[in-house]
Amino acid sequence: MPARAAVPPKIAERAATLRAAIDAHNYAYYVLDAPTVSDAEYDRLFRELQSLESEYPALATPDSPTQRVGAEPAGEFSTVTHRLPMLSLNNAFSDGEVEAFDRRAREALGVERIEYAAEPKFDGLAISLSYEDGRFAVGATRGDGYSGENVSANLRTVRSLPLKLGGDFPPYLEVRGEVLMLRRDFAAMNVAQTAAGEKVFVNPRNAAAGSLRQLDSRVTAKRPLVFFAYGVGAVEWGRIEPPRTHDALMKWLSALRFPVAWDRAVVQGLDGMLDYYRRIGEQRAGMPFEIDGVVYKVNDFQQQLRLGFVSRAPRFALAHKFPAEEVPTEVLDIEVQVGRTGALTPVARLKPVFVGGVTVTNATLHNEDEIRRKDVRIGDTVIVRRAGDVIPEIVRVLKEQRPARTRQFAMPSRCPECGSAVVRLPDEAIARCSGGLVCPAQRKGALLHFAGRRAMDIEGLGDKLVDQLVDADIVRTPADVYKLGVAALAALERMADKSAANVVSAIDKSRNTTLARFIYGLGIRHVGETTAKDLARHFGNLDALESADDTALLEVHDVGPVLAQSIRQFFAEAHNREVIAQLRAAGVHWPETSPQRAPAGKLAGQVFVLTGTLPSLSRDEAKALIEAQGGKVAGSVSKKTSYVVAGAEPGSKLDRAAELDVPVLDERQFKELIEGKR
Ligand code: IVH
Repeated sequence: MPARAAVPPKIAERAATLRAAIDAHNYAYYVLDAPTVSDAEYDRLFRELQSLESEYPALATPDSPTQRVGAEPAGEFSTVTHRLPMLSLNNAFSDGEVEAFDRRAREALGVERIEYAAEPKFDGLAISLSYEDGRFAVGATRGDGYSGENVSANLRTVRSLPLKLGGDFPPYLEVRGEVLMLRRDFAAMNVAQTAAGEKVFVNPRNAAAGSLRQLDSRVTAKRPLVFFAYGVGAVEWGRIEPPRTHDALMKWLSALRFPVAWDRAVVQGLDGMLDYYRRIGEQRAGMPFEIDGVVYKVNDFQQQLRLGFVSRAPRFALAHKFPAEEVPTEVLDIEVQVGRTGALTPVARLKPVFVGGVTVTNATLHNEDEIRRKDVRIGDTVIVRRAGDVIPEIVRVLKEQRPARTRQFAMPSRCPECGSAVVRLPDEAIARCSGGLVCPAQRKGALLHFAGRRAMDIEGLGDKLVDQLVDADIVRTPADVYKLGVAALAALERMADKSAANVVSAIDKSRNTTLARFIYGLGIRHVGETTAKDLARHFGNLDALESADDTALLEVHDVGPVLAQSIRQFFAEAHNREVIAQLRAAGVHWPETSPQRAPAGKLAGQVFVLTGTLPSLSRDEAKALIEAQGGKVAGSVSKKTSYVVAGAEPGSKLDRAAELDVPVLDERQFKELIEGKR
């Protein structure tokens, strides 16, 4: 075998020169939008480099511009854990909310006025790029904020994204930003897709998302994606002096050849922010890409650090969103959908309209009261609103356009799925089908829940199969699932023998489960995964739970009267006990454990939220005192919070407590409560 050809120094030098020239032309073309050579000259350089690399394969490093054409498809994306989480931003929809944000920040910092860096809010997909020793290493999607998908091969094809950093770069750098598609590229791409008889995309954001999530990066390479940086994640600065402000950081990133928004600004205080918002709002329609608002960031990093974070969003930054797009359309009908819990939701069928980047044909009307309040009738012309990924809603009726003949909606008295009576309890807004598991909609929901990943985890028993099984009346209860054989499944439409065998094996595997999964899978109202775990731990076995009375149930961590009643009612139902018996007879089993009852302290069932610094107790000490008496400490204030314990410099939790009327204790009052003096 011939030895791999060694690269003569002259050739290596020529390749390096070509690469630098091509990188520079790419930057001028894709980032600066100011080409420096003719297309023909560019192609000549590119082909010369390609031919050198094919002659000397050792030259073809991953950061070569020739590697932007994509590679063999991957089986699936691997997972990348972000070194620093990718957080979200709090949103403001009005000037008042921006004012409140600025006030809180000023008060927390003790300053008169804050300098902000303001920039457009890109409507694309968040990604994180890591560079090791100046070379592009890994690119990942945001995912759940803590880990995302490794889409490096796809990102490598994005021409405006540097594969190699020039100048002075740190040993490790994570750049955060958005991938998107320019409006003009999106339009041209759809024209080409149409001509080729391929799928057209509804909006640039979906097109960018679809392109980035391609398993075959050669497809991505043909899609005109661009990248804009808006910040950094983890950085090892090495010898480099870190920038002190966001604005300086952006200038530094730009010098490293990362594309950044050019209509950024440094503004002073609230007036500066609102001026910027109006200015960008006016320019929005003419911008080369879509934006859905602007972002304000406290410019000084020291100040950012002092402000810190609340749960998943920084206290030093805010997204000020543009109002959602609103367009008129006609209500063709109002139908009722039956959900898993039997809730009947009226849904407006609309004359299709394009709004907020997609074609909308339905809008939820939530419940009867909402329809009355908005006075929506069939035949009306209404204003529909849609923003981001939220469900479209009807904002109001154009009464002046109401035709002479409209129809009023009436909640049916019988369930459209099963004919059972529809009931609406006096203090509830929701009407429900009373058919329980007789109702196919509820049966389907119950089965999907039972088979779900967090419950019995039966892979392959999804939406479509459940629909078929329930519609053909093959499966009525979860216990019937364990009677399914390969033959019965394979007889269904679109079900191959192989898939049928896989489902049967998944069903078989699920027989071996845990008590917590089983309890959760039963779908008892209000019993979520955490409660199911608490119940399993507390009672240790199912018989004890089945026969528990209110007193016994209320001893369980976090179980209140509503939950206790719901659990009791579930097990009081003969039908439910029968299904459970059948499931056990079918071989569903779990290891029984001894009950681990928490001491039912004075604070059992009470939820505390701690905020600010207490004069003598540390946060951990306060927490230990609460937990020792059976109470629980939560991270955020909700309607379930019993008390907020507040010290010096409390956060927004205190505002939230006031909003929700949750009692607030200082340290003295808290100690009195612990000592039983309250
Ligand atoms: S800064 C700590 N700046 O908006 C959060 N985000 O809700 C840092 N986004 O998914 C985000 N344009 O991808 C920042 N100029 C901008 C942005 C921006 C768009 C996205 C971001 C994230 C979402 C946050």
